[in-house]
Amino acid sequence: MYNSLREWLAQVEEIGQLKHITAEVDWNLEMGALTYMVGKHMGSPALLFENIKGYSRDYRVLFNMLGTGKERIALALGLPTGLTITEMIQATREKLKKRIPPEFVDPKSAPVNENLHFGDDVDVLEFPVPKMWPRDGGRYLGTADVIITRDPETGCVNLGTYRQMVQGKSEVGFYVSPGKDAKLHREAWWKMDKPCEVAAVYGVDPLLFLVGSQGFPKTISEYEFAGGIRGKAIEVVKGEVTELPIPAHAEIVIEGMAYPNNNRLEGPFGEFQGYYGRPEATTPIIDVKCVHHRHQPILTSALMADYPSCEQNFFFSIIRSAKIWDDLDALGIPGIKGVYSHPAAAGGFGVVIISMEQQYAGHAPQVLALAAQCPAAAYYTKWIIAVEEDVDPTNMDEVLWAMSTRCNPVEDIDILRNTWSTYLDPTQNPPEERPYGSKALINACREHKYLDVFSVRSRITRSMYDSLSQRWSELGLDGEPPVIRTFEKDNI
Ligand SMILES: Cc1cc2nc3c(=O)[nH]c(=O)nc-3n(C[C@H](O)[C@H](O)[C@H](O)COP(=O)(O)O)c2cc1C
Repeated sequence: MYNSLREWLAQVEEIGQLKHITAEVDWNLEMGALTYMVGKHMGSPALLFENIKGYSRDYRVLFNMLGTGKERIALALGLPTGLTITEMIQATREKLKKRIPPEFVDPKSAPVNENLHFGDDVDVLEFPVPKMWPRDGGRYLGTADVIITRDPETGCVNLGTYRQMVQGKSEVGFYVSPGKDAKLHREAWWKMDKPCEVAAVYGVDPLLFLVGSQGFPKTISEYEFAGGIRGKAIEVVKGEVTELPIPAHAEIVIEGMAYPNNNRLEGPFGEFQGYYGRPEATTPIIDVKCVHHRHQPILTSALMADYPSCEQNFFFSIIRSAKIWDDLDALGIPGIKGVYSHPAAAGGFGVVIISMEQQYAGHAPQVLALAAQCPAAAYYTKWIIAVEEDVDPTNMDEVLWAMSTRCNPVEDIDILRNTWSTYLDPTQNPPEERPYGSKALINACREHKYLDVFSVRSRITRSMYDSLSQRWSELGLDGEPPVIRTFEKDNI
């Protein structure tokens, strides 16, 4: 598996999913708008901007790193290409079972230390930082990033993806939602009257971005999960002005301190749900003491937008689905055949579909209630839908068919109130620091007590399918026969 963003980009280039944009493009709105337009095509390539207005060609920006590129997400996770989405989710579950701690390497030969700037030499606008949306509050250096902080009590190092708006040459804000790890860490340091050490990685390899954007147990570092997925320790070096472990192969890293009561106005920012999130508000600042970068650095940037142009897309769905499935398994719930947190639903947050084999009366409502509140799905999710095993949860046509033929809304929808949410949900009005959401549990499985009398699904037989498939071209039909998964005589 690759060791750095550049090695991964070489693999992406080989499968034809990297587009070099060599014509001049403005950091001010143009890169964001072009990424939005290109992202409207499913499977669109990663975009490497190589000629940015007002900047030397030595500075590049990568947008749409993962996007809807299923194959490059597979490469990012070290999986074979060509798997179905459910196979990718299953394979990711296996990979998340392993953990390997990071390994310190020689800082002198670490690519991240090729260029170091300290004190007055620090200027974060040395990099072509984009302003993405017309009403954004400023230029966002951190989007496809990870922020590294340490818990002062346990010593555990966290990697989290949080947005960061430039405030000045050596000042960057970092907006962290309530309950998220970096917020807990910085408040714990401040309670001890100490500044919080912070490192932020902006030219990040996709694996660290992937783990940084997911919630993992607060006592285990995301570095260990990333090592487990890679099958090899993530190589790190000790910071120059902090004690934090920094990825040795990163493109761009800043190190600094967050002091209590050092806040500035930040936002708004065009977010993952396709709206500007909360209005402008105050956010703590990182006082940048040191900048590291490779020669010809690549800044990684994530456009947050409506689907499918949003960077928080398939990759997020795959990992979130894997973690929800793990949570249900850990509770000992039988019969789960598939889980999908759909990427079209506000960055993969809004809708979770569970495919299951009903084994007893009350089984589907139990799955719905537990999935709705399990750690991996509790945040934001509004619609939890249970379907049976003949329905592919990753195929919305099949899910809508099940909702329309097996769900009787008056009987089969329950509502949970006062659930975990965020004021980035545009329906939370007026926007509050501590919002409550709600969830609809939709049972689109045949009613268990009427299974014997429920209308029989009209299907062809397996032998008919096989015989006609063999004669496909003889019958004058093009391409391959369609994949059909259920036949008469199956259990359902
Ligand atoms: C591109 C991108 C940008 C994100 N921006 C933010 C953000 O600004 N603030 C935030 O709290 N979470 C943000 N998230 C979600 C967090 O990364 C996610 O909640 C993660 O679990 C945070 O890590 P933690 O659980 O270690 O705190 C973002 C996710 C992605 C994919």
